[in-house]
Amino acid sequence: MRKGYFITLEGPDGAGKTTQLARLLAAAAEAGVPVVTTREPGGTAVGDAVRGILLDPQYGEIVPLTEALLYAASRAQLVQEVIKPALTAGKLVLCDRFIDSSLAYQVYGGGLDFDFVWRTNLAAVDGCLPDKTFVLNIEPQVGLARRGAAAADRMEQKPLAFHQRVQQGFLQLAERFPERLTVVEADRPADEVFAEIWRQAAPHVAALR
Ligand code: TYD
Repeated sequence: MRKGYFITLEGPDGAGKTTQLARLLAAAAEAGVPVVTTREPGGTAVGDAVRGILLDPQYGEIVPLTEALLYAASRAQLVQEVIKPALTAGKLVLCDRFIDSSLAYQVYGGGLDFDFVWRTNLAAVDGCLPDKTFVLNIEPQVGLARRGAAAADRMEQKPLAFHQRVQQGFLQLAERFPERLTVVEADRPADEVFAEIWRQAAPHVAALR
């Protein structure tokens, strides 16, 4: 039986998910709560191999359907190997991207059919939807610029219009799933962003002690 709590962080590239995930991890550990952190695509040996295909610029244009299925494949492995066992053990699970990235990037960005990607991913997650999802909202120009000199991966190299559709997609998802998704404005100091996330997450985290 599932008894942990599952939080995902989402948003356009450069929104600061990785920073916020590290802060959540530190706060949960300080509260004495058992926590597992992971990320997508990847998080398992199989998933990391799939991530290598998805993000390597040498593959250029991967057709959206292939992309969607590869992300879903990585996700299915992560759920069975890492997320479900941790939730069953009563842990807090923090994941950097999950199902909503496939909806924002492959549906709103890539133009695939919403219901197809949703159904494929419902199968991939095997009933394991997040309890809470924080969407870190940022203009793609700002997010991509935050990446600075770091080499852009295959997804980041997509045109600005793609990333704008992704950002709008996340906001539409928040309207579609208002119980699960919360939008947090991310173009401000990391401390402020974290305070808003923690205000909402803390009671659920404390309940796992
Ligand atoms: P990202 O979190 O940006 O990795 P990093 O911070 O290490 O660069 O994720 C990699 C990219 O994959 C990102 O551009 C979003 C994209 N992505 C999808 O298109 N669909 C998905 O389902 C997932 C999980 C990620």
